[in-house]
Amino acid sequence: MTQEREKSPVRISLLGCGTVGGGVLRLLQENKDFLGLRAGGEIEVTHVLVKSPNKPRVAECKKEWLTTDPEVIFGDPRVDLVVEVMGGEQPAYDYIQRAIAAGKGVVTANKLLIAKHGPELVEQAIKNRTDLAFEASVGGGIPIIRTLREALASDSVASVHGILNGTCNYILTRMREGMSFGVALQQAQELGYAEADPTLDVGGHDAAQKLVVMSMLAFGASVNAGEIMVEGISEIEEVDLQFADRFGYRIKHLGIGYDRGERVELRVHPALVRKNSVLANVDGVLNGVFVEGRALGPCLLVGRGAGDMPTAVSVVADIVDVARSRIEGQPGLATRGIQLKHRPVMPIEEVETRYYLRFAVGDHPGVLGHIASALGAESVSIEQMVQEGRALEADDAVPVCIITHRCQEGAVRRALKAIESQVFLKGAPRILRIEDV
Ligand SMILES: NC(=O)c1ccc[n+]([C@@H]2O[C@H](COP(=O)([O-])OP(=O)(O)OC[C@H]3O[C@@H](n4cnc5c(N)ncnc54)[C@H](OP(=O)(O)O)[C@@H]3O)[C@@H](O)[C@H]2O)c1
Repeated sequence: MTQEREKSPVRISLLGCGTVGGGVLRLLQENKDFLGLRAGGEIEVTHVLVKSPNKPRVAECKKEWLTTDPEVIFGDPRVDLVVEVMGGEQPAYDYIQRAIAAGKGVVTANKLLIAKHGPELVEQAIKNRTDLAFEASVGGGIPIIRTLREALASDSVASVHGILNGTCNYILTRMREGMSFGVALQQAQELGYAEADPTLDVGGHDAAQKLVVMSMLAFGASVNAGEIMVEGISEIEEVDLQFADRFGYRIKHLGIGYDRGERVELRVHPALVRKNSVLANVDGVLNGVFVEGRALGPCLLVGRGAGDMPTAVSVVADIVDVARSRIEGQPGLATRGIQLKHRPVMPIEEVETRYYLRFAVGDHPGVLGHIASALGAESVSIEQMVQEGRALEADDAVPVCIITHRCQEGAVRRALKAIESQVFLKGAPRILRIEDV
């Protein structure tokens, strides 16, 4: 049976042939010789499902593969493996379910879908003894899923910190160099890093989807994504980057996860990280994931988190793995290693870290004392406090910036509420978390 299998190719169909799908077809062609050897048999493309058949495609996409009819793929029992690179929730979700139900292997790059339906799809794949592989859904070309699932199968992960969105990292890097948020965003769009509608990126939700997927592998956690606190970068101002620099920090947009016993601590937000820390120096459009294993200690992965070829590297690596497992008569082996349990997400009020607080205040005597005593009343103690300059006009605001010692977020929020009612305050206080990674 296995010998027969080795002689026949593994037949794959792509659902989608845009940025990622085009890269996948190019890489399959460029590396054809050794991919076949690594998979243990030839990988043959049979169909490519698209919406508009007349759109221009990469040269490697043969016209005869193109179809707009999914039934051509699902009705063909010779198709061993479905590669979902179309994106979105529907119809991708239905197609993946159908492929798994039919015992076909599935490779997907779809973070939205895995974040929303991953645990249930993994369970379905395990039940059907088939593969569901999703390396490209987090960190583009960075092999973070494989690292967590395979290399760290022996260890228990204490925490993960990821720069998971290249657009946010690019914008924050340019802002640190003096560019405004708007100009940096426009540049990111012109360079093809940001979507035409960048809301998912700069609002933090793209990173949140990736964090949910990572926490499946890092902590074996199936979570309700709605419980995760998500903040983007659009509120970050130049003055925050300057203060951070002065205190010895850089601001990075992070997806953060900690194993907290029965619960997991998951949050997505901009954070101050020390200038000499490993993640502080992952700049521009690069992604980086810092994993702390209980036995391993620190481990850092850095690379290109998006783009046709980096993402295709991850998708094709999954195709090779899934193809090999089928050729060797062991489909579903890798997916069976993913063991998930529902874990509640720790409420943000209970999260303990250090905080950067910035207030715009009227330049009156006693203001600093008021702020300090409101924080003190909630047992939030101050590590550093800076008041910048003097107001030129009586009504002008001056910034006051505070770094706290470690405390609960609930206490900080209660203190800020008390301060917000004070007449000296000119605008909402800025609260940023500090991560010691
Ligand atoms: N782009 C990246 O750098 C990157 C990185 C990591 C992960 N991903 C993930 O990879 C997936 C694909 O992203 P992408 O950037 O390659 O998207 P894309 O360029 O927009 O391509 C989507 C492809 O899917 C096809 N398609 C969409 N809806 C369809 C439908 N209902 N029926 C048939 N075909 C349909 C489109 O057909 P037409 O060509 O005919 O319009 C197109 O070929 C997404 O899940 C994304 O989150 C992307």
